[in-house]
Amino acid sequence: MIEKLNKIREKAKIEITESNDEQSVLKVKSTYLGKESEISEVMKQLKDLSIDEKKIIGKLSNEIKNEISDLIKEKLDVIEAKSSKKVSFDHTLPVDKDTGSLHPVTVVAEEVVSILKKMGFIIVTGPEMENEYYNFEGLNVAKNHPARDMQDTYWLENGKLLRTHTSPCQVRAMEKYGAPLRIVAPGRCFRNEDLDASHENTFFQLEGMVIDKEVSINNLIYVMKNILKDIYNKDVEVRLRPGFFPFVEPGFELDIKCLICDGKGCPTCKGSGWVELCPCGMVHPKVLEYSGIDPNVYSGFAFGIGLTRMAMFKYNIADIRVLNSGNINSLKQTGIE
Ligand code: PHE
Repeated sequence: MIEKLNKIREKAKIEITESNDEQSVLKVKSTYLGKESEISEVMKQLKDLSIDEKKIIGKLSNEIKNEISDLIKEKLDVIEAKSSKKVSFDHTLPVDKDTGSLHPVTVVAEEVVSILKKMGFIIVTGPEMENEYYNFEGLNVAKNHPARDMQDTYWLENGKLLRTHTSPCQVRAMEKYGAPLRIVAPGRCFRNEDLDASHENTFFQLEGMVIDKEVSINNLIYVMKNILKDIYNKDVEVRLRPGFFPFVEPGFELDIKCLICDGKGCPTCKGSGWVELCPCGMVHPKVLEYSGIDPNVYSGFAFGIGLTRMAMFKYNIADIRVLNSGNINSLKQTGIE
């Protein structure tokens, strides 16, 4: 009898697997679980068996019935899911190994932001479609100022523009929060560039700004060195060169000693031993004033880190176009997990 029951179990399993529509599954159900089924026949004969045999055969019959009934239920579920075209998502299926990863620019941005957050900076954002005032006038770049030429701007038909830098976030934050202030603003910027290996019309910057009483250039250097130390895991030598931006005075270009050749001179630093990393400077008194902050009481510094460049440096990406290409194979070569 045990052998018979096991055979029934195997036969039922095969028939359930082979049934692919509701009707045939229901037929299997009545064959194996109905009143006239072979299992029912076995159950009817139980009364003629000894108590011990009854226990064994009865238990086995019930087990097999339950097993068949579960398999039928499962099969009906599968058929229903398919036929009703429900999107069925099985969370238990093993995932493809390729689970994706953060974009190199996002990784670098998160690193810098987390360092600044520890120093008390708050994260702010601004729109990519910006008003002319926030992108230029509020930053002391008047309508016909030649400095506008440095940032070949995409103007929109609605009179707005695609922001050419993240500096408008300075103005918005000063207006919103006043002084004292510590902000960091990562974001996408746009300029009309001829594309080549080091120029893109869409790139990422990270703006930083501190306003408080008695803020000096020393504070600026300290913050920058802290960021660099955390990112490159060692003390990085920096130097300031004069640089012109209408919204800072004095304005600087901050260079770091080339990390590839340690300042000896190589193709990356074009033989100079130094690499330009970020423009910065002390906030121009007019910029403070425009946003309602008294320059006689407060001073500040601001910097704009080129995140795209930083990511290229960190991951050894020679062509800037890779970053916006969405080409997974190229991006994978950065080794980001
Ligand atoms: N916004 C400037 C640019 O994109 C960089 C900058 C930021 C300069 C902050 C000084 C201070 O060119």
